[in-house]
Amino acid sequence: MNSLLVTGGAGFIGTNFVRFWLKRHPSSRITVLDLLTYAGNRANLDGVDAELVVGDIRDEALVGELLASRSIDTLVHFAAESHVDRSILGPDAFIETNVLGTHALLKAARKYWLATPGTPHRFHHVSTDEVYGTLSATDPAFSETTPYAPNSPYSASKAASDHLVRAYHHTYGLNVTTSNCSNNYGPFHFPEKLIPLFIINALHGRALPIYGDGMQVRDWLHVEDHCLGISRVLEAGRLGETYNIGGGAELPNLQVIDTLCAAMDSAFAQDPTLAARFPDAAAAKGMPTASLKSFVADRPGHDRRYAIDCSKASSELGYVPARDFASGFASTLHWYLDNEGWWRGILDGSYRAWVEANYASRDAAS
Ligand code: NAD
Ligand code: TYD
Repeated sequence: MNSLLVTGGAGFIGTNFVRFWLKRHPSSRITVLDLLTYAGNRANLDGVDAELVVGDIRDEALVGELLASRSIDTLVHFAAESHVDRSILGPDAFIETNVLGTHALLKAARKYWLATPGTPHRFHHVSTDEVYGTLSATDPAFSETTPYAPNSPYSASKAASDHLVRAYHHTYGLNVTTSNCSNNYGPFHFPEKLIPLFIINALHGRALPIYGDGMQVRDWLHVEDHCLGISRVLEAGRLGETYNIGGGAELPNLQVIDTLCAAMDSAFAQDPTLAARFPDAAAAKGMPTASLKSFVADRPGHDRRYAIDCSKASSELGYVPARDFASGFASTLHWYLDNEGWWRGILDGSYRAWVEANYASRDAAS
């Protein structure tokens, strides 16, 4: 694992992975292939010793050229359309990138690596627990043998990509591994997802839009623990196997939101400069952040509960997440407070136009 091609390495988890990997393997060479869609950000790789190639994973010729010219031995595949709400508004991009893009990568990998039998290689596919569908309150957590039952266009497209990866192993002998992970949070998280959206809304005194009754359950994992899990799969995972990676932190959304509101209030209480920097925040006006909570129409087809059984990764790979939600969330909040320039750059760019175009009409309809 000396020369890695990381797809989607300018997005949330990809950029954390590149940083995580280089800290532990400083002699590795990393090439990032990223289209820099709305979710990709060149600035995420500032100061990181990795080469960024701006390009599309669907471009099989480009991928083949990168594999050959950089002598890639390990491909870690993060690139995807990743937001469930966007997949409901417009599924096509999800099929294009998640299904056809993954297939283009597999074709290029097969052509390059399998041309000379015995060439050492690995194709690691990063996927989600959402492929397993939804759980009731009493169902056992998802294991690697839980049948696939994706409910959103996003999860259906990820399920299709998982099946293609599996098929390329069984049919052609490509050395693949797959990891299915629960909800991540942490630095560089794009501000359309629950935790960063609510932190930034709270700092602006904007409503915190809670879908439905807010009692949907997610298993929250700090992104560095996800990176740890992927590293363990790369180092010790069995070829052709899938591994579930989770945080053991099953929480209803309302509990996550209440933790966020309380942490925001205490951050403002401890640091008087925050009220000057964010004068519109409820906490700056002596109001509790929780006063911004607002129940809105539910997401169509909203999965009720996800929970991950990661005993296979624990027993085979020694994977144990290092952070609990309380400490992981506290450091994440401080990262957003300390990196205002990063998220302002996103809010002031093309993301603003997209939100205005897509959410204004939906909010009016709900
Ligand atoms: P993200 O949306 O933050 O980043 C995706 C990256 O892929 C962006 O940099 C984007 O520019 C790039 N990209 C999109 N289409 C591309 C294309 N056609 N060619 C090249 N690059 C392209 O996503 P994320 O949250 O970092 O998720 C990364 C991976 O992890 C995804 O495969 C996702 O399904 C999976 N995953 C995410 C979570 C989570 O909680 N975020 C949980 C489990 C699994
Ligand atoms: P999200 O971060 O979009 O991740 P996912 O849908 O992949 O789990 O959402 C996490 C949970 O938070 C999910 O149950 C939907 C809910 N949610 C809200 O209640 N309000 C919001 O504005 C968003 C973005 C999400």
